[in-house]
Amino acid sequence: MPAVVLVGAQWGDEGKGKATDLLGDQVDYVVKFNGGNNAGHTVVIPTPEGPQKYALHLLPSGILTPGVIPVIGNGVVIDPAVLFAELDGLVARGVDVSRLVVSANAHLIAPYNRTIDKVVERFLGSRRIGTTGRGIGPTYADKMNRIGIRVQDIFDEKILRQKVEGALDQKNHLLVKVYNRRAISVDEVVGELLSHAERLRPMVTDTALLLDQALDDGRTVLLEGGQATLLDVDHGTYPFVTSSNATSGGACTGSGIAPNRVDGVIAVVKAYTTRVGEGPFPTELLDDDGERLRRNGHEFGVTTGRPRRCGWYDAVIARYAARINGVTGFVLTKLDILTGWEQIPVCVAYEVDGVRHDEMPMTQTDFHHARPVYELLPGWSEDITAARSFEDLPSNAKAYVRTLEQMSGAPFAAIGVGPGRDEIISLRPLIG
Ligand code: GDP
Ligand code: IMO
Ligand code: MG
Repeated sequence: MPAVVLVGAQWGDEGKGKATDLLGDQVDYVVKFNGGNNAGHTVVIPTPEGPQKYALHLLPSGILTPGVIPVIGNGVVIDPAVLFAELDGLVARGVDVSRLVVSANAHLIAPYNRTIDKVVERFLGSRRIGTTGRGIGPTYADKMNRIGIRVQDIFDEKILRQKVEGALDQKNHLLVKVYNRRAISVDEVVGELLSHAERLRPMVTDTALLLDQALDDGRTVLLEGGQATLLDVDHGTYPFVTSSNATSGGACTGSGIAPNRVDGVIAVVKAYTTRVGEGPFPTELLDDDGERLRRNGHEFGVTTGRPRRCGWYDAVIARYAARINGVTGFVLTKLDILTGWEQIPVCVAYEVDGVRHDEMPMTQTDFHHARPVYELLPGWSEDITAARSFEDLPSNAKAYVRTLEQMSGAPFAAIGVGPGRDEIISLRPLIG
């Protein structure tokens, strides 16, 4: 014991990579339990030569911490070529990746699913989701549809061929007759997947059993979520979501750790809000303030480079995340980016067609119509990036944090004041 889950509270890019890295020396295993290379987690590590920045997509951020065992759980969808490219990139920078283990039950992103992701988005036109185009949605759809290809399948060519044939029977109809694309051959897909088998084989294990035994042995397991609460396929702003369970429940199904073994849930929440892709966003700013948040916060996607949509902090969302995930401690990030505003609006509730909502509206239509009810909090102008204790913060920054905490439904355990590992104010232990 213990197992601790770490999730995003908003629409992603809250700083989960940094928070995972921060906990690195307290944990033995870091498990990615959902999503795939749609994620982009940034970790900035201090070295004698200066800060080193890493962007992780398919690998759990814990791979950067010496001694930690990184695990890709059964809930993840894996593009094997991306996995190996990412591993090679880390090896070239001197990172030891030899401990990585991969679930035999994780699904593989087949080449046709990357194609389908992109053509479907193009066909949707103005109704598109704004996906990352990595084949994530179609691969999870195949999993649910029971035509998915799993990691274990590529170790048996006969089985693999049967499964690819079954999937392509359906996919080629779709590609050729609906989307006007060329048919994909079984040999092409089998060949590509098989080409990764030998390199993948030594990493593959029963990760659910491994983690259960680790917990029995008193090891600490951190379950690092990709995406975030409002991108969760069940609890997010459907259909403008990803195709996995990014909330804490997904940590159990996506890793095989039972719910009664989870001891804590950390949610990472930005001191303002961002979103990439399409979908409703009540506090979005389409004015100079939005542009300033994007510029100051370097709000451009780690995976696709797209500018992130920016808006004020939304306490309704934070409370929702606290409830859905059972949050035991929030990590508030990027407080430093708010320096320099005279007043900072915070959304405390929504107004929907003249009615006040203190909780997330029940329906998609109401959420689309939600207008933020703002409370204005006084800002600060002092640079806070050198603050290392709560007392170091200017009084208005302290008041901003305390007010947010009261509105957000769970205690704040740490506050980020910069991207670096040491640019953090610790308020209470996150684990234990
Ligand atoms: P993730 O997907 O949740 O891991 O977040 P991303 O890495 O996509 O985006 C978060 C960005 O904010 C990264 O560039 C981080 O280096 C940076 N970051 C994280 N915490 C802080 C913070 O407290 N202050 C500042 N200025 N940057 C931060
Ligand atoms: P991290 O882990 C922000 C968004 C996409 C799109 C929607 C569906 O870095 O926080 P998908 O390719 O998953 O089918 O796209 O989800 N999205 C993310 N947005 N951060 C992420 O990951 C995201 N992963 C997916 O932009 O709107
Ligand atoms: Mg990200």
